[in-house]
Amino acid sequence: MRVLIIGSGGREHALGWKIAQSAQLSQLYFAPGNPGCAHLGKCVDLPDLTSTLSFCQEQKIDLVVVGPEKPLVQGWCDHLRAAGIACFGPSKLAAQLEGSKAFAKKVMAETKIPTAKYQRFDAFDQACAYVKNHEFPLVVKADGLASGKGVTICQNEGEAVMALKEAMVDNRFGESGKVVVIEEFLVGREASFHVICDGKRGLALVAAQDHKALHDGNHGPNTGGMGTFAPSPFVTPEMEQVILEQIADPVFQYMAQQGSPFQGVLFIGLMLTWHGPKVLEFNVRFGDPETQVMMPLIESDLLPILYQSAQGQFEPDLDLKIADQRACVCVVCTAEGYPENPRSGDVIEPLPQNVEDGIVFHAGTQTNGEGKLVTAGGRVLGATAWRSDLDRARNAAYRLVEKVHFRGKYFRKDIGGHELNS
Ligand SMILES: Nc1ncnc2c1ncn2[C@@H]1O[C@H](COP(=O)(O)OP(=O)(O)O)[C@@H](O)[C@H]1O
Ligand SMILES: [Mg+2]
Repeated sequence: MRVLIIGSGGREHALGWKIAQSAQLSQLYFAPGNPGCAHLGKCVDLPDLTSTLSFCQEQKIDLVVVGPEKPLVQGWCDHLRAAGIACFGPSKLAAQLEGSKAFAKKVMAETKIPTAKYQRFDAFDQACAYVKNHEFPLVVKADGLASGKGVTICQNEGEAVMALKEAMVDNRFGESGKVVVIEEFLVGREASFHVICDGKRGLALVAAQDHKALHDGNHGPNTGGMGTFAPSPFVTPEMEQVILEQIADPVFQYMAQQGSPFQGVLFIGLMLTWHGPKVLEFNVRFGDPETQVMMPLIESDLLPILYQSAQGQFEPDLDLKIADQRACVCVVCTAEGYPENPRSGDVIEPLPQNVEDGIVFHAGTQTNGEGKLVTAGGRVLGATAWRSDLDRARNAAYRLVEKVHFRGKYFRKDIGGHELNS
């Protein structure tokens, strides 16, 4: 099979690493990929949908795997499928589950999926009137894509009005903030749960946990993710069943009834509350850096699963097997200045190769004019290791981190640890 992966981050390197292990793979391309991906396949520059479509036709691509949310929300999969190219990722309409928080909330309300209570507003003064008589904290969310910056947890009316003004009046998030969702504040532990669907049936991946805050102990500003671990010890097999039956299946049924069956992966952002798991948000693609810890824990060949999802039909006996007795930890190494103003161009010393039960995934890296590997983004590399249990995996991941050298390297010391003690 000839496969094209779209995207350039750690997620795409991890997906490519897993797909490259498939006996069914004949050629792997990345657009644009990164220097880590370049070890697995060819990196090509396809800046838009038109160039992607012609590349797929010329190169007889059998499957396109779309990594990031933006092309999904823009409807690339519909265009690729219309041109007869199998594409792993939801239609434009189904991608609204991520592209519009108000849409996702409406679907959850209609299908009675457990989530925070909410109201949708498209007028600033009405939103302000609503928060006036409300209890705090509450959560203000820009409706559309906002690169992880559209959510504010507000402790009082002043903060809420400020957040509403930024989104609805100052247009900080452009069109994405014209509509907002105001929701109840949920208390609990967060987990990420991914389900791959062929439009009808869901196949669950291993539950993962992300660490979003910059510093140890969950202090400091929010980031794209400083590290992950899986499996989450807080998502029990019984809870997985509840998530599949009360959350994933109703979403898949709803989308099928709308004539937009969900083909791709649904990433369910969960708050594990005293009243059971509740949905914080949906994403319609693999999480980053969750993918880096999920891929090494999949025992099945992933390629036929993605292909059959893209074709809209899993074989009846298709299963997604997760390794038992194995845990994985990914520690993200970030660039100086991340998240506000990450510095690029720092030379990365040669990385450990052929690590046993581990790999350093590339995220924000680049090869410079002299052929040297340099930093090229906030999250630079993800030191990832898997072992028979979480403690061993964490120790192994941190041993790998010590072998990563570049000026300004920063990482959290408590990935896979703090969450467990708190
Ligand atoms: N209702 C809520 N109660 C408590 N915390 C929330 C709530 N909604 C969001 N959050 C917090 O804000 C973060 C970002 O919100 P999310 O809905 O995942 O949006 P996005 O990832 O698009 O920024 C969550 O990971 C969670 O920490
Ligand atoms: Mg989120």
